Amino acid sequence: MFQVLDKVQKLERLGKKIYHFELGEPNFDTPKNIAQRAVKAILDGDTHYSNSFGKYNLREAIAKTTLSSRGFEPDINQILVTPGANSIIFMLFSIILEEGDEIIIPDPGFPTYLSVANLFKIKIKKIPIREENNFGLDFDELEKLVSKKTKLIVLNSPSNPTGGIISSDTLKKIAHLCHQKKIYLLTDEIYSRMRYYSDEYKFYSPSLYDKCKENTIIINGFSKAFAMTGWRVGVAIGPEEIIKKMGLFLETTVSCVPPFIQEAAYEAITGDQSEQLAMMTEYKKRRDLLVSGLNSFKSISCNNPMGAIYAFANIKKTNLSSDQFVSKALNECGVAALPGNNFGERGEGYVRFSFVRSIDEINEALSLLKNIFE
Ligand SMILES: Cc1ncc(COP(=O)(O)O)c(C=O)c1O
Repeated sequence: MFQVLDKVQKLERLGKKIYHFELGEPNFDTPKNIAQRAVKAILDGDTHYSNSFGKYNLREAIAKTTLSSRGFEPDINQILVTPGANSIIFMLFSIILEEGDEIIIPDPGFPTYLSVANLFKIKIKKIPIREENNFGLDFDELEKLVSKKTKLIVLNSPSNPTGGIISSDTLKKIAHLCHQKKIYLLTDEIYSRMRYYSDEYKFYSPSLYDKCKENTIIINGFSKAFAMTGWRVGVAIGPEEIIKKMGLFLETTVSCVPPFIQEAAYEAITGDQSEQLAMMTEYKKRRDLLVSGLNSFKSISCNNPMGAIYAFANIKKTNLSSDQFVSKALNECGVAALPGNNFGERGEGYVRFSFVRSIDEINEALSLLKNIFE
């Protein structure tokens, strides 16, 4: 990813106009009511050390939100407020995994799972996430990967980079399997508020199975749905003893998430939701435009993402590798995207476009791409 970013920055320094579709970085400002809450908290003096596990009012609000969104209310001691969602992966892996353990992660999938597992010398098995399966997950295939050494299964629905979702039936089966075999289940739900399917298919979390009391840990965060990437605030919900260890880890490393940031997070989930909902309406328009535009190219096809902010386009018919496609799009059109192989071997032949730019920019980028790839 940094190779692409490096090239992008070099071209920008040379004065070239770049259309940014490479990062999962919303181009919206953080909603005003959220920012105002943080400013007020700072002016009111909420600028000191706070509880390492998170402020009580925020954890209480998270417990209530979990009840309405996931159907169970975790205990306050099952909730940890973290500096971003990424840090949860590192803290959790370092606490529950030992050298020689096996984990199963999605391929293609969010790269941090792989990097952290490699750091701790964990054996990695990859569950293929296939386009033919609408970028869902095949339970039978997953079950075959499980061995006596499997300690953890990682799921991410809606997914980065594919935008695919795992059906609630499959999620229920996975939760049951993990419970039976005493395998930890990490369910990364950072895109749970970013869905494009109708409300009759309500968001389903496999955490409902054990209510995060035994083996399930939820990752969640504010970065994406509330356009708060730079605020660095996330949430882990899990069994009390794991949350306790992660809290001690956090206490001895960063002490706490700044209290005024936590106030902003509190406002995000309890305050006015209109800006957040308006962003989702806009994302849906962008998704529809980008996906239909990509599908109008003879040599590109793109599945309609059900959630998140990514279109994972199949570019195999261009006869270019993912890296070649991305270089050509950047050098000849000024369109920056990420090669699918950044997310695992099964991402080869795909390119990830984040629909985080305006409708006008998407239209311009599509016409530039059309000149080259059509
Ligand atoms: C699937 C997934 N999990 C976690 C994260 C990390 O988010 P945060 O900004 O809260 O660290 C990301 C960010 O792109 C993501 O895509």
